[in-house]
Amino acid sequence: MSDDWNMAIDAPAPPNATQKPLAPALSASTGVEATVAGETRVIFGGCNYLGLAHHPRVIEALREAAGIYGISTGASRTTTGNTLAHEQLEERLARFFSAARPGHTVACTIDGLTANMAAFEALAERRTEAVIDERAHRSLVVAARAAGLQVNLYRHLDVGHAVELAERDPAGTVIATDTVFASTGHIADLASLVRSAPNDVGFLFDECHGVGVIGDGGRGVAIALGVTDDRVVITSTLAKAIGAHGGFVLATSDCIRRIRSTATAFVGTTPVSPALAAAATEAIDIIDQEPDRVRRLQDRASRLTAGVALYADARVPAGFAWHTPIAAVAFAPDDAMTRVRMRLTERGLSVPLVSYPGGPAPSYFRLSVTSEHTAEQVDQAIACFAEEADDR
Ligand SMILES: Cc1ncc(COP(=O)(O)O)c(C=O)c1O
Repeated sequence: MSDDWNMAIDAPAPPNATQKPLAPALSASTGVEATVAGETRVIFGGCNYLGLAHHPRVIEALREAAGIYGISTGASRTTTGNTLAHEQLEERLARFFSAARPGHTVACTIDGLTANMAAFEALAERRTEAVIDERAHRSLVVAARAAGLQVNLYRHLDVGHAVELAERDPAGTVIATDTVFASTGHIADLASLVRSAPNDVGFLFDECHGVGVIGDGGRGVAIALGVTDDRVVITSTLAKAIGAHGGFVLATSDCIRRIRSTATAFVGTTPVSPALAAAATEAIDIIDQEPDRVRRLQDRASRLTAGVALYADARVPAGFAWHTPIAAVAFAPDDAMTRVRMRLTERGLSVPLVSYPGGPAPSYFRLSVTSEHTAEQVDQAIACFAEEADDR
């Protein structure tokens, strides 16, 4: 089996590249297996954590809604582009979180990026400053700046530093962070953050890698940690564990009303396709009806975590009971990484080699598992790393 597949899809940008190359185009994907140039590999990458992007009921819901509404509404939801599919999705999401966040409502956006934009636009009516984890997803920084907030970065996962920066003007400040960091699987200690910050501070937690993944029934890190008060605004995507496309903000009804009436990221855009809204609603039903899916993901995630524990860069709050399905692994020197790639290739596996800032090395393997990987497949990937460690 040639190594072109892995090399091509995983290759980091050359140092002098002005533009990050795209990965080679997939010609087919089942979520667990993907095909490039006629060659199919078991892939440990991406964020389709519950396999819902390929679920027959989700695909059927999309088809049916496309037949009813067409593909695009062709207009903003404030003019002629509102559909029952969008309203049903917002109601379904609010119900998904309602046990932990009663009375909180939802506004859907085009994606996770615009969810952050809409949330910061609403928060900027009362706040002037965003204090953001230095390794947070760049959409948080971009969205805060777009909303006119002054951005100050705190050291990664450093609650004390975040609080110190927020104390300068608590009533004017929003502390924002990813709950699960996409490239390393690190989990932010939201409970400690909320407990330690002054009462007037607001919070925006990006749960793009938490919803569907962490906590009972996949309600996310904030709910798993009991962080549910009115000061906390949650944003997330519908394109990862939910398996569809779109984004949403979960907050008090007052905050959601402001988003719906004034946020450009909501008012000034054509919403996500009604077909995708219906697909997302179906996916959330499946998460509730098939609780084993989240449990299976947790099983694979704990298997991965245990299997690479000796050489992965893992950071979770003390005593946290949930495992992240993401592991960041690096070996020095470079030829060790090459040997791991060869082992993966020989077994027909692919793990993206990424070069995001903030990882354990300039380039490292970002492994992710889904509920649809078998335990044996996870073990095979782990073995490629264990063999390298054994040979040292
Ligand atoms: C932490 C985080 N926030 C926001 C986003 C943006 O979400 P979307 O892809 O739906 O725009 C992503 C997507 O990669 C993400 O990982």
